[in-house]
Amino acid sequence: MTEFETLAYEINQLRTDKNAVILAHNYERPEIQDICDYLGDSLGLSRTAAATEADVIVFCGVHFMAETASITSPDKTVLIPDLNAGCSLAESITVDQLVDWKAEHRGATVIGYINTSAAIKAECDYCVTSSNAVKVVESIPEDEEILFLPDKFLGTYVEMMTGRKLHIWPGACHVHEKIGDVNMAEKQKQYPNAEMLIHPECGCSTACMMNSAMNFDCANSHIHSTSGMLQHAEQSESDQFVVATETGILHRLRKQNPSKTFHAANDNSVCEYMKMTTLGKLRDALKYDQFEVRVEPELAEAARRPIDRMLAIG
Ligand code: 13P
Ligand code: SF4
Repeated sequence: MTEFETLAYEINQLRTDKNAVILAHNYERPEIQDICDYLGDSLGLSRTAAATEADVIVFCGVHFMAETASITSPDKTVLIPDLNAGCSLAESITVDQLVDWKAEHRGATVIGYINTSAAIKAECDYCVTSSNAVKVVESIPEDEEILFLPDKFLGTYVEMMTGRKLHIWPGACHVHEKIGDVNMAEKQKQYPNAEMLIHPECGCSTACMMNSAMNFDCANSHIHSTSGMLQHAEQSESDQFVVATETGILHRLRKQNPSKTFHAANDNSVCEYMKMTTLGKLRDALKYDQFEVRVEPELAEAARRPIDRMLAIG
């Protein structure tokens, strides 16, 4: 047996013995994607974590995702294989900054992206993910002032899609913000027949929405969450795509669409946090029950409210 096969064998044994479910985000390493029980975007993962009947949830993703699972499933053991798997976007706002911002806009509705810590969620009215942010904002009465945090690109995208003026926190993900319109223009020249699939956290998504500022022709561009991209690629008649997001998604896109070709908008779009989970660390997580992520009950209760409101909207 190869080292990978041995690890996969052990993981499968431990998963059964411990009645564990392995959840993984679309940006994880290919071998983690291939062994997990559920692979998805932030919304799908939140829903699956909230509904599972397993005793143990092993979250192959980043810390805020494991925290969200602990908030929605407080009676389960939630494990993350590497405690250092953080998120630059979640780090882009602190609780003190949010409290000050709320004080400047008393009475405003606070909408927080799922990529935030439990402490930030506890200060929010609604949570959103990239696949439901537009829908959630549309559900809020027109006359309500909205604070949207922390991602400026997603916020701008939502603002343009809904026609609502939002107050947007100037945060960004270090991987997505580097994918700009110049990057896309180069790829468009290289692959003139390809469709462009763009994540709303990218800089190029805003450029595409703001016609005057863009370098590339966005007529053949589609802005989607990671699962939205997978659905689009499967249903589209195109056989070539340029994908503007973290490159981990390419494994699943190619596996699900073997006759189609996928190019990364930027081959350097790699999230080091998502890549921290390896098969060895996953095996150790199951074997030694490490590393547990637990949100204190009082904080969990406050953070659950915006998540439940989001899940109720869709
Ligand atoms: P989605 O998978 O929800 O599109 O989120 C992308 C992301 O950046 C997760 O960290
Ligand atoms: Fe966070 Fe960006 Fe990594 Fe997603 S890709 S986990 S937003 S740092």
